[in-house]
Amino acid sequence: MSALAAATLAPDAATSPVLEARDLQRHYRIGRGLFKQADILKAVAGASFSLTAGRTLAVVGESGCGKSTLARMVTMIERPTAGHLMIDGTDVVSADKQQLHTLRPKVQMVFQDPYGSLNPRKQVGQILSEPLEINTEKSRKERMETARAMMARVGLRPEFYTRYPHMFSGGQRQRIAIARALILNPKIVVADEPVSALDVSIRAQVLNLLADLQAEFNLAYLFISHDLSVVRHIADELMVMYLGRPVEQGPKEVIFAEPRHPYTQALLAATPSVDPKARSKRLTIKGELPSPINPPPGCAFHRRCPFATQVCSVERPALRPFSGRMVACHHAEKTI
Ligand SMILES: Nc1ncnc2c1ncn2[C@@H]1O[C@H](COP(=O)(O)OP(=O)(O)OP(=O)(O)O)[C@@H](O)[C@H]1O
Ligand code: SF4
Ligand SMILES: [Mg+2]
Repeated sequence: MSALAAATLAPDAATSPVLEARDLQRHYRIGRGLFKQADILKAVAGASFSLTAGRTLAVVGESGCGKSTLARMVTMIERPTAGHLMIDGTDVVSADKQQLHTLRPKVQMVFQDPYGSLNPRKQVGQILSEPLEINTEKSRKERMETARAMMARVGLRPEFYTRYPHMFSGGQRQRIAIARALILNPKIVVADEPVSALDVSIRAQVLNLLADLQAEFNLAYLFISHDLSVVRHIADELMVMYLGRPVEQGPKEVIFAEPRHPYTQALLAATPSVDPKARSKRLTIKGELPSPINPPPGCAFHRRCPFATQVCSVERPALRPFSGRMVACHHAEKTI
């Protein structure tokens, strides 16, 4: 390829998505005993989004809205029930075992619990070099060098190589988990509430580390959090979910500056450190989260929504482009 052709292609390659999800769904059958028919729980009922190298999509929403289920599909722990999921050019839904095997190292995960996610019987060095042993041709010496270099990169002293997880603090353990996620040079990192279990005082350090590593390795992040004050620092794009469906989706600045879905407004209102303009509405969410087994008809938020009208209880609002983002609300024009 000529230098000119390469230069022309380069910007596209840099901005083309490493992951594309279209109407992604995951349903679970919930048994109701011997004689009753099973219920279907739509944990994720249709989500479309893409991830781009070097950028972060944050997924937010209350407990049970489907965030971790989404993470399990993206990391290929679970197959989607319906929809499309393309990762690095491969269709995950129709991929065979060999294709999934090739794809798996490209997507890595950092979990919420830095205590439960590391094997207590293994030294840090083993935890980091094992994925290299399974997935690469590196020699023992090379594996050790790579693991030590990664330890240094995430702010752990390489002489801790032979220490066990219990000898580290929560923040240091999360650094080990991040090092393990990055050791195979993934393209995508899914972080499911990665700082929620950490002391407030060390959250910023871990978030800064994630941001530095993203810039250095051009990683695409799917960052899951129920906490909008955390998301505010790390996200480029935002996807707000309610009962398995995205209700507002778009650039972080747009949504934080002027949320248009009443649910996003309520989430922002409940986040103390967020924009006073959004908070001044003082919207609070009434009532309980409905059951995902039997979601309300129409807009699933209508029983809790201060803007609800008759149409909201019968017609489910489609996600539509509106004022620089996508929103699923019949009355987005009036919610400001
Ligand atoms: N394996 C499963 N079998 C049946 N139901 C499940 C399963 N996994 C998740 N669910 C249900 O799917 C819904 C979404 O769960 P999920 O764990 O994805 O939510 P979440 O947004 O990650 O919540 P949290 O903030 O509490 O972590 C919940 O109603 C949950 O009970
Ligand atoms: S569609 Fe109706 S109930 Fe749903 S968020 Fe909009 S105004 Fe509220
Ligand atoms: Mg979860």
